[in-house]
Amino acid sequence: MERLLEIKNLNIEFHDHDIPERVVNNFNLELAKGEIVGIVGESGSGKSMTAMAIAGLLRRHDMEKKGEIIFEGKELLHASRSEVRQYQGDDIGMIFQEPMTSLNPVKRIGWQVEESLRIHRPDMSKEERYRRAIESLRDVELEEPEKVYRQYPHELSGGMRQRVMIAAAMICEPKLLIADEPTTALDVTIQLQIVKLLQRLNQEKQTSILFISHDLSLVKKLCHRIIVMHDGNIVESGSTKEVFYQPKEEYTKQLIQAIPKLEKLIL
Ligand SMILES: Nc1ncnc2c1ncn2[C@@H]1O[C@H](COP(=O)(O)OP(=O)(O)O)[C@@H](O)[C@H]1O
Ligand SMILES: [Mg+2]
Repeated sequence: MERLLEIKNLNIEFHDHDIPERVVNNFNLELAKGEIVGIVGESGSGKSMTAMAIAGLLRRHDMEKKGEIIFEGKELLHASRSEVRQYQGDDIGMIFQEPMTSLNPVKRIGWQVEESLRIHRPDMSKEERYRRAIESLRDVELEEPEKVYRQYPHELSGGMRQRVMIAAAMICEPKLLIADEPTTALDVTIQLQIVKLLQRLNQEKQTSILFISHDLSLVKKLCHRIIVMHDGNIVESGSTKEVFYQPKEEYTKQLIQAIPKLEKLIL
């Protein structure tokens, strides 16, 4: 399989207190084209820091980053801001947990879905942008995309807003979609719908997905491979089957046992 992303010995350390705090420790990953990898672990285990590093969003002065993040042969962890910006929203799409905070409350949905096109396809006509936005909204299974295009975030349900975020992240047809807890604020049935949507987009467009969640049952449903993180370390990784049915580590076993019975039935 063709490799899309490789992370080698990623280390992230905060220096904003007297004692440096290592939040990601020797993280390694290889992600192939079309592959879905899940990163799972309880809150505070370093998942979001890892996701932000890949997305080029960790650019603070009080932190030290070591290692390599190689996307399609290009090292991004130490690349310049302008080099990283070329990827953000174009080859690398991102969605985060709370769509209400990621969406601008005073801008119409259509304007926000088109944002990456305005940045990365500056020559595209207004009409073509509109056409692509409607197509993207339809692609995430929003009914009446023309109506949604003209609406504001507060007029939509949480599930619809998350679909809008996915439409915005997918509009430039990224090769990699980073989804950091994209369903955490939603109820279980909506979570399942979003997971199915990501599954369909992966199959139809061959988009690789890095799916980050504290919820092992969701990760199991969607991902081909799973990385279990705890306290900044990878404690276990393998195919979804291996990790779920033959976990090696006590920590993984605990995560599996912690899945609520109801979720086991639904998911
Ligand atoms: N600004 C910061 N300064 C110091 N430590 C931080 C900061 N932001 C996050 N952290 C720490 O980094 C660790 C990993 O956080 P994070 O990646 O957000 O975890 P997760 O996404 O798995 O819940 C946590 O222990 C958190 O306390
Ligand atoms: Mg997080």
